[in-house]
Amino acid sequence: MGFWEQWNFKADPFDTLPLDYSQEGSDLLIGRDKEIKELIDRLQMSTRAITIEGPVGVGKTSLINVALFRCYRAFFSEQLPPFFLPCRRSFQLTPNHDPAAFEADVLMAVAQTLLEEQARTDSPKIRGSSDLDQWLNHPQNTQMRWSLKAGPFGVEFGKGTVNNTSGFARSGLREMVREWLGMRFPSPKDGAVVCVVDNLELLQTSRNAVLVLEEIRDTLLTLPGLRWVLCGSRGIVRSIASTSRLERCLHQPIVLTGISDVWAQQILSSRVDVFAKSLYGYYLPINGADFAHLFRLFNANPSYTLKYVGEYCLFAAQTHPFSIEEKSRAYTDWLRLEATKSMTDIARVSNRSWGLLEKVISANTEFAAADHAHLGYATADLLRADVKPLTESSLLEWSVDETDKRRKIFAITPKALLVNFARRGIPRIEPTLGDED
Ligand SMILES: Nc1ncnc2c1ncn2[C@@H]1O[C@H](COP(=O)(O)OP(=O)(O)O)[C@@H](O)[C@H]1O
Ligand SMILES: [Mg+2]
Repeated sequence: MGFWEQWNFKADPFDTLPLDYSQEGSDLLIGRDKEIKELIDRLQMSTRAITIEGPVGVGKTSLINVALFRCYRAFFSEQLPPFFLPCRRSFQLTPNHDPAAFEADVLMAVAQTLLEEQARTDSPKIRGSSDLDQWLNHPQNTQMRWSLKAGPFGVEFGKGTVNNTSGFARSGLREMVREWLGMRFPSPKDGAVVCVVDNLELLQTSRNAVLVLEEIRDTLLTLPGLRWVLCGSRGIVRSIASTSRLERCLHQPIVLTGISDVWAQQILSSRVDVFAKSLYGYYLPINGADFAHLFRLFNANPSYTLKYVGEYCLFAAQTHPFSIEEKSRAYTDWLRLEATKSMTDIARVSNRSWGLLEKVISANTEFAAADHAHLGYATADLLRADVKPLTESSLLEWSVDETDKRRKIFAITPKALLVNFARRGIPRIEPTLGDED
């Protein structure tokens, strides 16, 4: 039996997977009402693709899942369109991607999504859906049968399999999915299947991103009945949204930064509400005030906080601290160890570089060399010189933008936040009333 079960939890409350499209996911998403509204307004306002910019772990995927779930809940209670159906999985683009394979991949996932919805809701069968179901879900049988005759959509099918793009091209799947989307969502007001492209920063440069997005613009980005959400970190989304060639089919980005500190206690209590088997008989080795402290230490990044709270729990499982004082002491001991660990492998960092790191951490922002004036540097080169030891010690991570070298984006690592704590400490906040066991 794992310790979460012994502590009377249904599952690990600090799991770092994105919050999902469910009531539970919605209950766990804290402090994002404004951003949820921005996302839903954009979905309902126009068919342009939505863009979300924010560092890894800040909560982009969770925000999308929960926003779509809340749209669904509203649709369900009022029985009024629009209805936004999330595609069964999200997509990623890489610099060496094959546009035809990507299109096939998306259309097959959309077809599956529509098939699953049809099965779930008992709606009347759409023409061709059982053939498509066969083809997608039992490719072996289908291939054998169809190699002998015309394919499911009246086109010669040959040896095309699900993973074979030339088979896809000849199969008529594209037309079929178009037709289905048209029947299911006759106008933008009726809703759409929502597809998410996650981690656009995998494209490494905004030039790559623009090229790839242009390739799929007419086949996918503007396909009626589909709606797109493009997510990424490190400035890549901001820069594509402002290129003239894509501007017309993209919304201005929703920028996600850390959740405000005031929500820390609620993040913890919502996790307890959802995951504890009983609200009276559970055990947790961390106090609310210490959780809030860690949340501030990690600059309100939920993912870093959850990951490290999880590690602290593993540490505390050995000693099982019980009183508020024991828990705080265990937390302090653990944090001291983590902070000491983070200080190893630090290259020679000058006082000026430390000063820069502190400034960037307190602004809680990614930055580019072009931001030198904001950071108090006369030139970009002077800023770069102070950044160098910080990247060498993994305190900042960077990505290059080939189109514009000045747009090299620097981001703060969790290690930097621990190091910052080791050097300067983080003030504690007194627990609010009603906190603790
Ligand atoms: N608003 C929020 N309230 C509580 N937890 C959140 C919130 N946003 C994100 N999280 C948690 O943070 C982690 C990272 O979220 P995720 O959506 O995967 O971030 P991203 O997609 O930006 O990398 C997840 O474990 C999720 O549960
Ligand atoms: Mg994500």
